[in-house]
Amino acid sequence: MIARDLAVLWHPCTQMREHPDTLPLVPIARGEGAWLIGHDGRPYLDAVSSWWTNLFGHAEPRIAHAIARQAGTLEQVILAGFSHEPAVALAEGLLARAPREPGRAPLAKVFYADNGSAGVEVALKMAFHWFRNRGETRRTKFIALQNGYHGETIGALAVGDIPLYRRVYAPLLAEALFAPSPDAYEARDGESPADCAERAADALRALLEAHGEDVCALILEPRVQCAGGMRMHDPVYLQRVRGLCDRHGVFLIADEIAVGFGRTGTFFACEQAGIQPDLMCVSKGLTGGFLPLAAVLATQAIYDGFLDESRERAFLHSHSYTGNPLACAAALRSLAIFDEDDVLARNAGTSERMRALAAPFADLPHVADVRQAGMIVAFEITRDGRRDTPFDPASRVGLHAYRKALDLGVVLRPLGDILYWMPPYCVDESQLQLLADTTRAALLHATKDAA
Ligand SMILES: Cc1ncc(COP(=O)(O)O)c(C=O)c1O
Repeated sequence: MIARDLAVLWHPCTQMREHPDTLPLVPIARGEGAWLIGHDGRPYLDAVSSWWTNLFGHAEPRIAHAIARQAGTLEQVILAGFSHEPAVALAEGLLARAPREPGRAPLAKVFYADNGSAGVEVALKMAFHWFRNRGETRRTKFIALQNGYHGETIGALAVGDIPLYRRVYAPLLAEALFAPSPDAYEARDGESPADCAERAADALRALLEAHGEDVCALILEPRVQCAGGMRMHDPVYLQRVRGLCDRHGVFLIADEIAVGFGRTGTFFACEQAGIQPDLMCVSKGLTGGFLPLAAVLATQAIYDGFLDESRERAFLHSHSYTGNPLACAAALRSLAIFDEDDVLARNAGTSERMRALAAPFADLPHVADVRQAGMIVAFEITRDGRRDTPFDPASRVGLHAYRKALDLGVVLRPLGDILYWMPPYCVDESQLQLLADTTRAALLHATKDAA
């Protein structure tokens, strides 16, 4: 299987030369709950929810059944000029659960795309085009946050700030303005996470005062910059951003692609700040992790800005599989499971257990930070457990930890030297214990090798 794979496949986010010697390639035969089962029958605990997509476990029967039923009814139909029940019902369900802010008109319309990056492209284009339609042609820029990530397509990369993904394509990318991250890990001596967030918001205010009239939208990942290393910020930052965007007439785009659907404790992360964005992107967990689908939620005012006699003023963006019925059916079933299983309440208990299991890691000599937002826990690994002593990247601590954890039957996929847990919500006590034990062993092994 490995030889056949390497003969024909080009894997995502991978230096293919590292396969299979430096980086093992693991053929998976099937999934069951929080487990992935290898072709050789070995189980692996999926501690990263398969790139943060899976919510309730692999091959969740209720979602599998909903997809099968939909496949026997209507598998796909063009969504321009046609409609179907799953697309409409899902839009209704998403809007009903969208973040609400008193005194602000609710998110009112849903535009589908078929993966997270495409959803980000949609939101960016909508914001830009809305101002064009009003004749405000000066507003051509986006503000994004340092250390942010919004996907790999050219538009999404332009508002991303992770050098590993961005640098080589920089000549192709539209210019964005980057505001300091509110990341609490970057707090200065004596600063609380809220102080750190306020400092970042002050810098954003200055940026908007200088350039606000050229900006159509600000995009951010609320609460957790996931690809940036599970860096977390105080919700007060989101409140400040909301106010600043309003003051400068700039749309706020919340990228809830990784943090939505209960990942940070609330259904959407924006709820923790009591704010509502103008545009919100969701994907990943949207279908429970079964099928690619994204949705962009927009206000009525944004939607209305495209109504015109002219076709050019319409939002002509499309993807062939926009609003695919199978993906919408999976997402609808997934939304229903949140109610049926009282998922957020169960997660509250699970995340407390994760907190208790993670806490002792703070005493390990190489751990500089242990942080958590709901169902996400992250460990920052440095040479001597201080923030200012990162390992030399050449020592590849994360890779060593990854391989050790795989040997022990757990899929940890560190972001650089940051280990994290983002398990499916069905994870149980014995699996959490395995996760904690394996993380400790992987961490000790990787840091011993690197020392
Ligand atoms: C916050 C965020 N936005 C956008 C994306 C891009 O989504 P996709 O990989 O489906 O294109 C990701 C993917 O990790 C993400 O974490």
